[in-house]
Amino acid sequence: MSEAKPVAAWDEDSSQHFIDYGAYFVPERETQIETVCSVIPQPQGSAHIVEICCGEGLLAEALARRFPDATIHALDGSQTMLDSTGAKLSALGARHVTAKMEIAEKGWRRFDEPVHAFVSSLAVHHLDGPGKAQLFKDLAAALAPGGVIVICDLAEAQNEEGRKLWERHWDEGVAERSMELDGNDKMRDFFREDGWNYYTAPDADPVDMPSPLFDQLRWMAEAGLEQVDVHWLRAGHAIFSGRKPA
Ligand SMILES: C[S@@+](CC[C@H](N)C(=O)[O-])C[C@H]1O[C@@H](n2cnc3c(N)ncnc32)[C@H](O)[C@@H]1O
Repeated sequence: MSEAKPVAAWDEDSSQHFIDYGAYFVPERETQIETVCSVIPQPQGSAHIVEICCGEGLLAEALARRFPDATIHALDGSQTMLDSTGAKLSALGARHVTAKMEIAEKGWRRFDEPVHAFVSSLAVHHLDGPGKAQLFKDLAAALAPGGVIVICDLAEAQNEEGRKLWERHWDEGVAERSMELDGNDKMRDFFREDGWNYYTAPDADPVDMPSPLFDQLRWMAEAGLEQVDVHWLRAGHAIFSGRKPA
């Protein structure tokens, strides 16, 4: 297995842009967050839950509410994102940790205690295929027996028809959201102008390297995980998980 390629193109401006427009452009964001939380088995007593690339902290906050005895580790490469997440989790005191990391590096993938759940939303596509396969292996090794890896991410379509369908579904979702939140089409138009829809121009930004969903499920199984399954999919955004044998 080759070493993951380092990723460098995401910067603090990208973080602020994502914070500003995520509410419009992330398909069914509330459903995504609720689904990721629902796939995690309730831990017995205290547990460690690690979020990889936590962004502004919306999922971390939901995890803290859902698992009140767990310690939440929120990791990201952006100080803007870590500051936002730290503020949201500050009430947890010692029950939360925020830390800077580069997703392609391996040093952060070791933990003092076995981890009950690793979760990640819209970030694993910053690794190439071999990088994702290696990530799943490293995380599986750090899991407690019965622990789970839950990934929410963009998938690569397997053919042109699939790509166009996901492109259209994403555009339609943003149009609905723009109307729902603001009562107008401005954010639908900005979404197009901004080039946010990955499926319109998949080669536009080298930082985006989604892999086919089928491959990612296989890499989870090859990492020794069981019960590998898909729980939700909309406009190319999929939530899938696998569990370490108990
Ligand atoms: C698309 S945002 C998703 C944020 C959040 N998980 C969510 O779903 O709202 C991608 C996140 O990955 C982080 N990120 C991007 N590239 C990274 C890298 N190479 N190493 C660590 N973090 C990275 C960004 O700072 C950002 O928080």
